[in-house]
Amino acid sequence: MYYNELPRHVAIIMDGNGRWAEKIGKLREFGHQKGVEVAIDIVQQASDMGIPYLTLFAFSKDNWKRPQNEISVIMNLMVESLKNEFQRIVESQVKINIIGNLNDLSLEVREVLDEIVHKTADHKGLNLTLAISYESREEIVNATKSIVQGVINGVYKIEDINQRLINQNLYTAELPYVDFLIRTSGEQRLSNFLLWQLGYAELYFNEKFWPDFTKEDFESALSVYCQRERRYGKTGHQMKQKIFATQ
Ligand code: FPP
Repeated sequence: MYYNELPRHVAIIMDGNGRWAEKIGKLREFGHQKGVEVAIDIVQQASDMGIPYLTLFAFSKDNWKRPQNEISVIMNLMVESLKNEFQRIVESQVKINIIGNLNDLSLEVREVLDEIVHKTADHKGLNLTLAISYESREEIVNATKSIVQGVINGVYKIEDINQRLINQNLYTAELPYVDFLIRTSGEQRLSNFLLWQLGYAELYFNEKFWPDFTKEDFESALSVYCQRERRYGKTGHQMKQKIFATQ
């Protein structure tokens, strides 16, 4: 039974690049290289399917704790793929946004990110958000600081603080809440990713390492989503009545 149309906003934790490479006796870097190729395929697929919003966890704040060499490889892959393969994708009107603490990034990375964001700003297709040097708790702390500052400056009163105002002060202010979260590699945790935005998301965990994740896996994950009944606290009976009422 299908309850839902395709999700409006899909978020993905692309996990398992390192383990995938180690499993086949290669360096972790090789896994990241393959991981970028898969990310590009999935972005293209989401764009072709008409999914409006896709957010990818490309690099977490905690990833800065990795060996310097691995960090450099990931940053280089990001820069090179955004300069090359992503240019093909953006031709299909993909619009790219970045969330995270961009002050942590080198000038070279920031310039490449700025360029692609600027270049795609008017695009009307898939809205692709890359989370880079991102962590959800930091995002919430920053939103809190900016709201408190607004209260001190007289822009808001305490009574104005509600869910909408908090949402407007997150990096994702322009995005709808996430409908569907996919995480690969068999790990079942959120790892500080979009904690507020995932409040009512359907969660989907796949055993495959990210480099093995295919377009078909993406389609079957979406099919699982369509078969989930999202009740938002209501009963199944109430939800059915709502479906009939709108037919
Ligand atoms: C998770 O695998 C992946 C990462 C930490 C980084 C992935 C990011 C990229 C490959 C760059 C993507 C760039 C763009 C522009 C989309 P892991 O290393 O945590 O794997 P493990 O859990 O097996 O160690």
